[in-house]
Amino acid sequence: LTVKILIKNADIITCNASNDVIKNDFLGIKDGYIDFIDTREEALKGFDADKIIDARNKLVMPGLVNAHTHSGMTILRNFANDLALEEWLFNNVFPVEAKLTPEDIYWGTLLGIAEMIKSGTTTFADMYLHMEQVAKAVFEAGIRANLCRSPLKDGDGSVEDSIRCFDYFREWNNGANGRIKVYIEVHSVYLFDEDTLRTSAKVAKELNTGIHIHVQETVKECEDSIKKYGMSPAEICCETGIFDVPVIAAHCVHLSERDMDIIKNKGVNVIHNPTSNLKLGSGIAKINEMLDLGINVALGTDGAASNNNLNMMEEMHIASILHKGVHRNPLLMDAPGVLKMATLNGAKALGFEGEIGAIEKGMKADIILIDTDKPHLCPINDAVAAVVYSAQGSDVDTVIIDGVVVMEKGELKTIDEEKVKFMVRETAKKCCS
Ligand code: NI
Repeated sequence: LTVKILIKNADIITCNASNDVIKNDFLGIKDGYIDFIDTREEALKGFDADKIIDARNKLVMPGLVNAHTHSGMTILRNFANDLALEEWLFNNVFPVEAKLTPEDIYWGTLLGIAEMIKSGTTTFADMYLHMEQVAKAVFEAGIRANLCRSPLKDGDGSVEDSIRCFDYFREWNNGANGRIKVYIEVHSVYLFDEDTLRTSAKVAKELNTGIHIHVQETVKECEDSIKKYGMSPAEICCETGIFDVPVIAAHCVHLSERDMDIIKNKGVNVIHNPTSNLKLGSGIAKINEMLDLGINVALGTDGAASNNNLNMMEEMHIASILHKGVHRNPLLMDAPGVLKMATLNGAKALGFEGEIGAIEKGMKADIILIDTDKPHLCPINDAVAAVVYSAQGSDVDTVIIDGVVVMEKGELKTIDEEKVKFMVRETAKKCCS
């Protein structure tokens, strides 16, 4: 079955190597891939679209990549606020999470996916509990995701059970028409020990896959690591083989020069989570230094309990203005650079390089349309600046993932939004009070 979608009257932010913005174009999608981008009417000859989308008064751009989140944490949205990370995590989040059933996680994840699609995210990296439920939600919702599985048993920080990683990998890696990639979860060096770090690295190498980990989020994490291992988190990750495979490293707020060298030399992908780092009072990552060193930096929201939303439009805005202000330098984190962090760099960090992150012929069709017929987006003047500085998540009108329309005119096609909201409210009543 061939499915062809034609987008006409399209002003396209391509996010290609030369950052082209193309005006008044035709964009053809065939069997999940971008088939052509052309201004000439004759390009349509023989295309015979099943569906035509008129992009007049809209911006067409690649879907956003949320490179670090815990989508099921939507259940804990606005639950424990104005606390430091350790107090927040150990004394508030973990006790609630211990009460969550696999089914609760399924509904919480679907809510997170609904929120992400509605604000323009088409791919995300997720780390959470009961990941078989997360895979099920991703499969059904039609979104793209990098999912990771811990080799530790749920609810037990020490017992290692790497068989479950192998099973999960076999069941889901490259599943859902290639929309799902499976990595190994290493939550952090504070929840793992030297043995389980080494085992995790070994499992990832055996499966020829990557690792998703939190790295040097707080000063306390770094101090505790020195006490526990005699090394910084980056150093112990290097020592135990964690950094020998593709790595999604969330936060990296407190890096010494040596840590930064390790991250650069090992090709670790850094995920900047500015809102979560600000809200938990963790600090501000040295993103510009990392970018200058050539480190791949992508952008993430972190979970809805420390943000408190999964809105990548807001994350781009904050990432851009935060570093300008802190360094008193408006030239830092320009709009095209920040948009690249939220698209191409995210695709690279999550193992989808060359497949998604830009609008180019031959790429997979993960595309969003922004409704620009709004006071706060009038006039456009500069399309990329409009997206990074003026647009809201709620301006996203239509979302296509893997060549399938999953949202049209603000309405989700693959998720029963009302049912999902009802189910998660019930779970919150049960677990968060
Ligand atoms: Ni996190």
